[in-house]
Amino acid sequence: MVLRWLSSLFLSACLITSLFAQNKSLTTGEVDNRVNQLLSQMTLEEKIGQMTQIPGGFVRGPEKPEDLIRKGIDGSVLWINDPVEMNRMQHIAVEQTRLHIPILFGLDVIHGYRTIFPAPLAMAASWDPKMAEAAQAVAAKEARADGFAWTFAPMVDIARDPRWGRIIEGSGEDPYLGAAMARAQVRGFQGEDNDLSNPDHVLACVKHFAGYGAADGGRDYDSSYIPEDLMWNVYLPPFKAALDAGVGSLMSAYMDLNDVPATGNRWLLHDVLRQTWGFNGFVVSDAQAIGSLVTHGYARDGSDAALKAMNAGVNMDMASFTYYQNLAKLVKAGQISTAEIDAMVRPILAAKIRLGLFEHPYVEPHSQQVAADPHSAELARTAAQRSMVLLRNEGSLLPLAKSGKYSSIAVIGPLADSGDDQLSMWGHIGKPNPPVSVLQGIRNKLGDAVRIEYSKGPNITREYPSFFADALHIHTDPKQTAEEAKKAFDDALATAKRNDMVILVLGEGSIMNGEAASRASLDFVGQQEQLLEAVVATGKPVVLVLINARPINLLWASEHVPAILEAWVPGEQGGNAVADILFGDAVPGGKLPITWPRTVGQIPIYYAHNLTQQHEDAPDFKSRYWDLSSFPLYPFGYGLSYTTFSYSNIHISNPQPGVGSTFEVTADVQNTGSRAGDTVAQLYIHQQAGSASRPVRQLKGFERITLAPGETKTVHFKLGKDELTYWSPSLRKWVEEPEQFDVWVGEDSTAKLHSNFKLID
Ligand code: NOJ
Repeated sequence: MVLRWLSSLFLSACLITSLFAQNKSLTTGEVDNRVNQLLSQMTLEEKIGQMTQIPGGFVRGPEKPEDLIRKGIDGSVLWINDPVEMNRMQHIAVEQTRLHIPILFGLDVIHGYRTIFPAPLAMAASWDPKMAEAAQAVAAKEARADGFAWTFAPMVDIARDPRWGRIIEGSGEDPYLGAAMARAQVRGFQGEDNDLSNPDHVLACVKHFAGYGAADGGRDYDSSYIPEDLMWNVYLPPFKAALDAGVGSLMSAYMDLNDVPATGNRWLLHDVLRQTWGFNGFVVSDAQAIGSLVTHGYARDGSDAALKAMNAGVNMDMASFTYYQNLAKLVKAGQISTAEIDAMVRPILAAKIRLGLFEHPYVEPHSQQVAADPHSAELARTAAQRSMVLLRNEGSLLPLAKSGKYSSIAVIGPLADSGDDQLSMWGHIGKPNPPVSVLQGIRNKLGDAVRIEYSKGPNITREYPSFFADALHIHTDPKQTAEEAKKAFDDALATAKRNDMVILVLGEGSIMNGEAASRASLDFVGQQEQLLEAVVATGKPVVLVLINARPINLLWASEHVPAILEAWVPGEQGGNAVADILFGDAVPGGKLPITWPRTVGQIPIYYAHNLTQQHEDAPDFKSRYWDLSSFPLYPFGYGLSYTTFSYSNIHISNPQPGVGSTFEVTADVQNTGSRAGDTVAQLYIHQQAGSASRPVRQLKGFERITLAPGETKTVHFKLGKDELTYWSPSLRKWVEEPEQFDVWVGEDSTAKLHSNFKLID
């Protein structure tokens, strides 16, 4: 029996390998031929079927999914994450339809499928694109092994407003860092060789095109108003980087961009994406976004919505069935030509062919075995360590001694033993491994050496707020009475008092991040601020660990809590990684990928702003507030270490480089402390004059390096056309201008080490 099973396993393994091998490295010509062959046999309805994505989950279509699939409406299926159901659907598609075109299953594999890595904003805080690439390669392998050949990632929306819950899904505020992380993630998903037939790779889908991160008021789905120069200089570069890395698909965004919905926006999807950038993959709308063109007040009805999305350049309708219900009529009425439909279907079929789906349509779930690779959990742990940012460490409270100094430690807070909150909303959509909470991580680290006492404190809410409720609801958990909350508060305080030191773990639950999770306040939710202040008042040494998806209000904490570690949404190994850092087995080296405001009133605040009116004779009349500094609490790029670094000897290989030439900036970085550690050397430039005002500083290079105590390394940065060109709003074109430039190299966006050069015509 066992033998029979083994031999059939062997046979199917051979079959899989040979099927994948069959498809390997099809040339573009071969793919085109197969696409043409298929297209020549397809009916209009079948073509529209390929342009339709059927939703699973709670969203219902006009007919049962299997009935649709049987009719050849089987472009893609979304949100089904059950291999039995996936195979059932696929059998219908492959065996019961005329042309046997397989379904492309898609899922939001954003920061892991089984092995859950830190969320993308945290990954960006590592300033380590290679690591992001390696993490997404693991995610790709695990997801593909469960039948998902398509992920809706990377999300590359630049976000400068932490009220927006989706800030956690992207790489923060900066286009240069964002572009680097975008490239890395595409390589991770699709492989460096972009060989989609490789069973370890998935088709990536860069999203949300474009400008979603600039939603008015930080409210999810709200309109964005972005001038064209900011589109080109800030919001579009990460998309371009993903395209350059070969991304095969792209998702259009939900919101209005300058009053034209992104999903019906021909400028975005045709002029920029296809005409200017030459994108030849396919565009999928965001979920139900084509249908929503009517809600926007942009389309009269479904038919008009389908026409506008088609004309804009959306190939596939995610979950709204607007194409399914309207395209055929539009073709018959002569409003859309068959050639236009063919052009839309072509890249979808090409992706299925390149992915090898025709040869290998079914799921034989083995991602569990793939995830059992010990390397994956190790990588998730290293990634979490490298993404954490040490915000404060007064009197070098950290690292803590593992034994000897404290005989008992209180671990307190609603996030302390809540591994689920270490996964973003998307971290729950795959088949996540059980996460290690901070409490568990500390226990794993210390064993019996130190007595550890845990107290949760008052709950934070874990329910979606009612639209009509008083905003203050976030200060209570409806599931906990006021007396229970008071008792939990008192218990936490008593626990703090009877132990030698306190590790407080505060922040936000995972329900407060991602989609539909915008906040008007950045204050701690629930009674966490009161708890923090009361615990600090006990006089015990306190370390604050933050598990959260966005900068929160640390105005009080930044002056009164001796040590603050930003752990973000750190993934399954978050607890172990926090313990590694707190107890010195890892040295923090992450840096903020976003400017940290003092209060919500400073938003938007970002380092790459322009200078404005500032008259010497009237020093009060400048960009500032009456009641608060206009500087952030922590600048972009900031983060401490357990050691210190000094930067010196900035050198420009050519102080008068010619326009179009490439030259080098070098600087020496020395570890001036007594332990090994990482720093991220960052290079910023400022163009002093030109056809438009330029930001005070712009990141144009970075490198994360490890230095032994006393060691010095020289960092090398390249500057040339790519770094010095910008889109000029007055000239309405890309320019590299012969002007004077400043350049700084250092540890964050306030770097002092300075030099300059003049670009010569
Ligand atoms: C809506 C989200 O905006 C998008 O990011 C996601 O990929 C789709 N739903 C599919 O889950």
